[in-house]
Amino acid sequence: MSTPRPTILKIGGSVITDKDEELAARTAVINRLSEEIQEAGIQDLIVVHGGGSFGHPLAQKYGIKEGFKEEAQKIGFSETHHIMTVLNGLFMDSLIWHNIPAVSITPSSCVITENGRIKSFEDTALRTLLKMGFLPVLYGDAVLDTKLGFTILSGDQLVATLASQFDAKRIVIGVDVDGLYDSDPKANKAAKMLTHLTLGELKKLHSGLGKSTTRDVTGGMFGKVSELLFAIEQGIPVTIVNATEPNLVCKALKGDNVKSTVIEKE
Ligand code: IPE
Repeated sequence: MSTPRPTILKIGGSVITDKDEELAARTAVINRLSEEIQEAGIQDLIVVHGGGSFGHPLAQKYGIKEGFKEEAQKIGFSETHHIMTVLNGLFMDSLIWHNIPAVSITPSSCVITENGRIKSFEDTALRTLLKMGFLPVLYGDAVLDTKLGFTILSGDQLVATLASQFDAKRIVIGVDVDGLYDSDPKANKAAKMLTHLTLGELKKLHSGLGKSTTRDVTGGMFGKVSELLFAIEQGIPVTIVNATEPNLVCKALKGDNVKSTVIEKE
């Protein structure tokens, strides 16, 4: 059995949680997304979700991303990882109740980073799950790091690595805005949405992109896009879509034409 080329769906933490309140899961949105994933009915899908108001506030409180400096952070590492398993559990509950054979893969148990970048990813379980037709679900997590002791791994870095390691067909990124803008649409009403970009155009635009707000320890929209450059470079197209709007994720997964930003190598 050869490994199928998967589609990778990232759901941002700001979609499934309310970033203005700590530990505020949007269960109705999680349920709607599960329904959309089921309805899209695509084979060979991997889902990755972010941390939102679960992972980010704790990671920030204990300085987990910056690495191990003092004993008092250890409980913070545990709390951050644990709270991500709680958010993941809510998503898993919903997927499985929608009759999707989803199986959670814990990044802290199979990924090691070096200075914050993925150094190794033991993917045997994931590969086998995919071959057997399961839906593997991963998430941004607190992980061990060879230089820092520990750090925060963003779901976006995970997406780019998975895409490259599994030669993904495409990547769909569900966020809480309609796509990429030439400036931050939350701060600037005149911001213009970009529907199609080549890698070259994206690189030029990069420095102008809006940096996201307060509690996001992994870089906001700017971080997302810079993480994806690596996958786009390998010819894997990325569709950025508003996952807070019903049906757009479903349509994007099916490859229908939707309001989105598509980024391709050329
Ligand atoms: C962050 O993951 C995970 C933790 C803070 C533990 P992401 O960086 O992918 O999360 P979002 O999508 O920005 O919320």
